[in-house]
Amino acid sequence: MCGIVGYIGARQAQGVLVSGLAKLEYRGYDSAGVAILDHGSIQVRKKAGKLANLGAELAEHPLAGTLGIGHTRWATHGLPNDTNAHPHATEDGRIVIIHNGIIENYLSLKAELRARGHEFKSETDSEVLAHLIEEKYAQTGSDLYEAVRLSLGEVRGAYGIVVTHADHREIVAARTVSPLVMGVGEGEMFLASDVPALLPYTRRMVFLHDGDMVVLSDSGYRVTDLQGRAVTRQIDQIDWDAEAAEKGGFDTYMLKEIYEQPTALTNTLIGRLNDDSGEVNLDINLDPSSFKRISIIACGTAYLAGLVGEYLIEQLARIPVEVDVASEYRYRDPLVSEHTLAIVISQSGETIDTLEALREAKKGGAKTLGVINAKGSSMTRELDDTLYIHAGPEIGVASTKAYTSMVGAMLMLALWLARARGTLSEAQAKELLSAARELPRLVEEALSPQRVAQIKVVAEKYAHARDYLFLGRGVNAPTALEGALKLKEISYIHAEGYAAGEMKHGPIALIDENLPVVVVATQSRLLEKTISNVQEVRARAGKVILLLSDGDTENAQHADDVIYVPRSHEMVSPIVNVVALQLLSYFTATALGKDVDKPRNLAKSVTVE
Ligand code: AGP
Repeated sequence: MCGIVGYIGARQAQGVLVSGLAKLEYRGYDSAGVAILDHGSIQVRKKAGKLANLGAELAEHPLAGTLGIGHTRWATHGLPNDTNAHPHATEDGRIVIIHNGIIENYLSLKAELRARGHEFKSETDSEVLAHLIEEKYAQTGSDLYEAVRLSLGEVRGAYGIVVTHADHREIVAARTVSPLVMGVGEGEMFLASDVPALLPYTRRMVFLHDGDMVVLSDSGYRVTDLQGRAVTRQIDQIDWDAEAAEKGGFDTYMLKEIYEQPTALTNTLIGRLNDDSGEVNLDINLDPSSFKRISIIACGTAYLAGLVGEYLIEQLARIPVEVDVASEYRYRDPLVSEHTLAIVISQSGETIDTLEALREAKKGGAKTLGVINAKGSSMTRELDDTLYIHAGPEIGVASTKAYTSMVGAMLMLALWLARARGTLSEAQAKELLSAARELPRLVEEALSPQRVAQIKVVAEKYAHARDYLFLGRGVNAPTALEGALKLKEISYIHAEGYAAGEMKHGPIALIDENLPVVVVATQSRLLEKTISNVQEVRARAGKVILLLSDGDTENAQHADDVIYVPRSHEMVSPIVNVVALQLLSYFTATALGKDVDKPRNLAKSVTVE
């Protein structure tokens, strides 16, 4: 995700901004820039690539001034290059902005602004904000705060925005979805998208809430809501060290990323769900009605997201789907034609097996689409098109937020194909879009303190098991596989995931009083069948850990331990249900003292064969 830093005070801003951006590098980025106010004009320096490139530019052309803003960009709209790097300025250079997030309606705003004579330099959604604010600034008699506030009233989407004007010694900022934290110094004020950038200067922080606006000046700050009403926000004293700060106060990146899932899903879905028409706006330059079959190819957790995609696409779009692990696809001489859509799924976009499988599919004439997190990664340069999941950098080796965002992307692709092929009515599509919109809230609910505490108890109870079995049916069979993968890769306990109906064909031989069996038994048309499998486990003294939907007290009788999860539409339940399994694996691994972020033998991205 993008990094933001702002400063106003007595120091030279350049040093504060560059060092602050360096503290945010872990967030992942592909370009960087600063803008500094001095003697009534704002100078901008920005470069594609790493911060060192910006540093070299500033060494050659330094900037003086004690008010400035800085940005590291995790590209969403527009390639990583100097022009698309932030900050963005109006044509006259008097207004300069930086932005983290996604402006859903930027295309329509850009067209309107162009029609009114504005000229754009970049391909970004963010630049629209500068021009919008410029218009409102003129309409409000040069009131920068009011100009920003009115502009945000026309914007839909996620933003952490910071704005400066050459005629004002002040910084105006606002956040919705994308985080912003203010640092309160002695006679100086700071802004950042995350705490690490501020720790060298102050530990007094104000965490802005969604819908907050703030004006920073030499005399301090004031916070309002988007309607202009004053808001009081407490100053927190932060005692984290730098490493803890990068983890947002969480013990590990993995736990931070589990809790980031509501935001990640918001960013995956935002701007892509059109509730009015029951369509999805995926901006994919492929014809969804031209394919006769679909190959989904990936590795590890990404492959399991693909298995969920198979259920969703076949059920909704009625088109044949096959899912392969990339390392097998590459060598099985697959049947491919120009009527095949090959979908590769990859968080890193660098997994060598998936990259080579993509090349194999292209050789056969397939159209290729990527479901990818890392912008500009190797796969994206060879794909016909890419649907970015915008989950933000995933540092923990065990994939969590990328997985749920990948599954969210598979649901949108299923809708995209189904609507184009006429296999889904507008009413049915709207029902699914509504279910998708609920996901960030449902995942937030799945992360409630009570649920997390209860899962921790269950995890610790069975932490010394030698083996685990995970079972699920239908669209949640892959959920069972993902739960098993999570557990084995961070706790090193042998764990298998199985389709519950398959248990009688072998795994039932494993059942005894030492074997915890986790069964995903949430609300579904297959629930009764699943409970029958549970009874087979209980009849053989297996220990049953049941994932049940809230309120299902009847089936609790079949369990040794119950983990309740929020009720959700069956087609989106793999996303809501998996959160409990992520936490179960996490607390098992921590109970065993394992290194959750860097499990033994594993790499975050397998770029060698
Ligand atoms: C999942 O928790 C693992 N880290 C691993 O299986 C991973 O999903 C796999 O290596 C694929 O990585 P990618 O998504 O970056 O291609």
